[in-house]
Order: sequence, then C-alpha cells, then structure tokens
Amino acid sequence: MSLPHLSLRPTSATSPPPAESRPLRRLHVITWGCQMNVYDSGRMADVLAPLGYRPADSAADADMVILNTCHIRERATEKVFSELGRLRVIKEQRAAEGRETILAVAGCVAQAEGAEITARAPFVDIVLGPQTYHRLPEMVARAHRAAGPVIETDFPVEQKFDFLPGAPAEQDQAVTAFLTVQEGCDKFCSFCVVPYTRGAEASRPVAGIVEEAQRLVARGAREVTLLGQNVNAYHGAGPNGGDWGLGRLIRTLAEIPGLLRIRYMTSHPRDMHDDLIAAHAEVPALMPFLHLPVQSGSDRVLAAMNRRHTADDYRRLVDRLRQARPDLALSSDFIVGHPGETAADFEATMALIRDIGFAQAFSFKYSPRPGTPAAAATGHVPETEKDRRLAELQALIRAQQDHFNMRSVGLDLDVLVTGPGRRPGQIAGRSPYLQAVHMDGPANLVGQIVPVTIRQCLTNSLSATLNNPAYAQERASA
Ligand code: SAH
Ligand code: SF4
Ligand code: F3S
Repeated sequence: MSLPHLSLRPTSATSPPPAESRPLRRLHVITWGCQMNVYDSGRMADVLAPLGYRPADSAADADMVILNTCHIRERATEKVFSELGRLRVIKEQRAAEGRETILAVAGCVAQAEGAEITARAPFVDIVLGPQTYHRLPEMVARAHRAAGPVIETDFPVEQKFDFLPGAPAEQDQAVTAFLTVQEGCDKFCSFCVVPYTRGAEASRPVAGIVEEAQRLVARGAREVTLLGQNVNAYHGAGPNGGDWGLGRLIRTLAEIPGLLRIRYMTSHPRDMHDDLIAAHAEVPALMPFLHLPVQSGSDRVLAAMNRRHTADDYRRLVDRLRQARPDLALSSDFIVGHPGETAADFEATMALIRDIGFAQAFSFKYSPRPGTPAAAATGHVPETEKDRRLAELQALIRAQQDHFNMRSVGLDLDVLVTGPGRRPGQIAGRSPYLQAVHMDGPANLVGQIVPVTIRQCLTNSLSATLNNPAYAQERASA
C-alpha cells in the first residue's frame, strides 16, 4: 500500500452520444463497506447511464458487473477474490452464449491492491480506485478494445465531483438519500486504512453540494445524510469565497424547500466545533441523532490509537451536545483488543459506555491492517480474549439499545414515511433517531412526515399508530 499521491493525467473531454442512440446494456453493482461506498455505487451507475447501462438484478443478467469493495478489516482481499471466483464462472457461462461481460473491481481494496488484482484474477477488466470513477466511460471504452486490463488507482488532481452527472431522469429517487460532502482523512488513527485508500482530506465546494441537494429533493428525497470519512472536518469553499464549516453548510441546506431532515456521518470528536453544536440547538431539520465514534474509553488506548483526545474530553463534548439538544441520542464505534489494551483498559471502555448511554453502537475486534502503525505494534491481544471482550461489550450495548427503544413506547414521534410496510395496508418509515417504525396507513403518505404514537417495541422495529389519520390522509392528497 502506498501513501496518497497526486498525478496529472487528462480526462477525456468527449461526451458520449445521447442514450437513445445507444444499445441498452445492463449493469449490476455489488456494494460492500460503508455508506460512502453506497453513494459511490450510485454515482458509478449515473456516469454509465449515458452509455446505455441500466440496472440489472443479478450478475448473470449484466453486461457489466462492478464489485465495490471495502478494506477496513482483515480478510477483505480474500473475500474479494472468492467473490471474483463466482463472477468468473458467470462471465465464462455468458461468453459461451456469445455475450460479453465487463468485470470491474472498485473501492478501497482496488485502491490498496491495484495491479495485484488483475495479476491474481486476469479475467478482471477494470480496477479503479474511489477517486477515478468519473473516468469510467473512458475505461469501459478501453476495456472493449481489450488491450489488457485497465487500472486506474491514482489520486487525480481534478475533482471527480466536477464530472459527475445526476441520476438519469427516469430513475426513482428514494425518500432518503446520501450526499458526499467530504472525503479522505488526515487523522491517521493507528489501526485504520482509510487515509491510505481514500487519500487526503478534501471538501467539496458549497455550490455543488447545494445543487445536488436541490436535485435530490426535486426528485423526491426528503431526508439527506451528508457523508464524509470525517464529515465534521468539512471546510468547503463558500459561494462568495472563504471556507464554510459543516454548521454553516447545514444551515444553508435546511433552507431548501422540501428538504425536511438532515443528518451527517461520520464525525470525529476533535472536529465538533461550536457552530456545529449550536446548529443542533437552532436547526429543526437537523435530526437529534449523532454517530460520534469514540473507539475506546481508556486514555492509554486512545493515545496509542492516535485519537488525540481523552475519555473525559468525549464525556464533556457529549454534555455540551446534550445541553444544545436535550433529546439528542448517540451512537458510536468501538474497537476491542487494540494492541496493548489491558483488562483495565477494557473496563474503562465499559465505564464510558455506562456513563454516556448509547442508543446504538457498532463494535469490532481489532483487526491488523498491513501498513498501519498498530499492525506493527507489540502487545497484540489474543483472539479468544478479543472475543470475550467483544461479547461483553455487545451485551451492554444491546441492553442500552433495548432500553432506549423501550422508552419510546408511549411517545409521540414524527416519522418520515419511506415506503410500504411488509403487510398490505401498512407503511414504514424512520423516527428522528433512525428507528424503523411501521404502522397502518395509506401509501400516499410516502415522503411525508407524520406524527405517530409508538405502541410497541419489537426486536428490530417499533410499531405505531398514526395520530389523527384523517388529517394525515388529507395532507397526503393535498
Ligand atoms: N471515519 C470514521 C470511521 C471509519 S471506519 C471514524 O473516524 O470513526 C469505521 C469503523 O471501523 C471505525 O470507527 C472503527 O471502529 C472500525 N475500524 C477501523 N479500522 C479497524 C480495524 N483495523 N480493526 C477493527 N475495526 C476497525
Ligand atoms: Fe480512520 Fe481515524 Fe480517519 Fe476515522 S478518523 S477514517 S478511524 S484514520
Ligand atoms: Fe471500507 Fe473504504 Fe468505507 S475501507 S469503510 S469502503 S472508506
């Protein structure tokens, strides 16, 4: 794995012929990893749409398959090669029927492994890193000429966002959408590959973000989650010069008519600036649910992780956030068994979890990533001990999550209706706290925020009844 670097290479400026004059082709995208990969997969489909590519449900039906990969934990690379083995069989079957299949590997494993992928899997046509997918049409053209594999894993100087079209007009936009505002990371936490795979921290200019948000809303999105590996480090160029922080960006987006809810992820505790905290108090569209990873509750481990804050800094930060927004609920990420983590360090993490009280959290066993400082450190924790700590931590988080959801029963909450429920006559949506909620109601409420009373807490969702169903019905048909 090499450090991010810049290289100058021109992009093809020729635009493809209009979609109508092109044969219909099918595209299947398999997405692993974080929300940013989900967003990227959508944009890759967008840039290929002018070439005639439309979504296919399965790889067997697709003229092009993109495997969008994640490198965050161990065995990522082996998982990719095992999936590629499956795709190879499909490609060969299709070839026997006279049909061509272009196979592309994208995302963070593509960035980290580069030419290693085509060396081990010569049937792969394209390997592209997360910063180059605006060049996909050109890569596809080169792949057709079949002069060997196309590999693009540099960090181009041009911003891919300047080259990305919106989704084709006929494609339905879901009620909720992701929007990448910032990418890359300069924090270099001891354990993490992201600074190597996504490159240096960079923010998109405000104008392009506002335009994209307006486009999403015009197509039906009502809730937008702003994405970034370090989203609260956002510092994009404002329309009239100067750098804007995330708080200011959120205040501006909140003025877009029809954009009812705003969220952002993932944040780093060190970048939680005053203006952003104030936005939680002042912007009603900003949802009272924050994913704020802390990783550990031990100051020793936090220092070893290069997080550059203490457990008490995190406690104080959460106090300030809760002062700004008393109903704020929190979620976090935890790593157990980072090199050097003792039983006492782990207890400090458990104490922090008890002190804060989380609505939800993701937790992982430390997984050594080649090329990162922690992988080369001493004091690796035995696997069985990591298993034990993870189980204990997850039991505590599960109890807190159940408690949080149980407390919702009897509450009146606003639910954004996102689609039909599982049973006929049912609709489903999400609470301000990202809880899945379902209730009886008419399908034409999709895209609306409706007041409900939570009646029951089930394993993975809440059931509710509409408050004033007649009024809700009237609003839906208005
Ligand atoms: N940018 C975010 C998260 C990036 S990765 C942040 O700063 O927190 C998502 C999560 O994966 C991390 O929060 C961390 O908990 C986990 N993770 C990252 N590298 C890991 C590793 N080597 N082993 C185990 N978990 C890891
Ligand atoms: Fe990885 Fe740390 Fe950057 Fe998050 S802040 S992406 S954990 S290096
Ligand atoms: Fe995975 Fe890359 Fe996201 S490593 S978590 S897909 S930034």
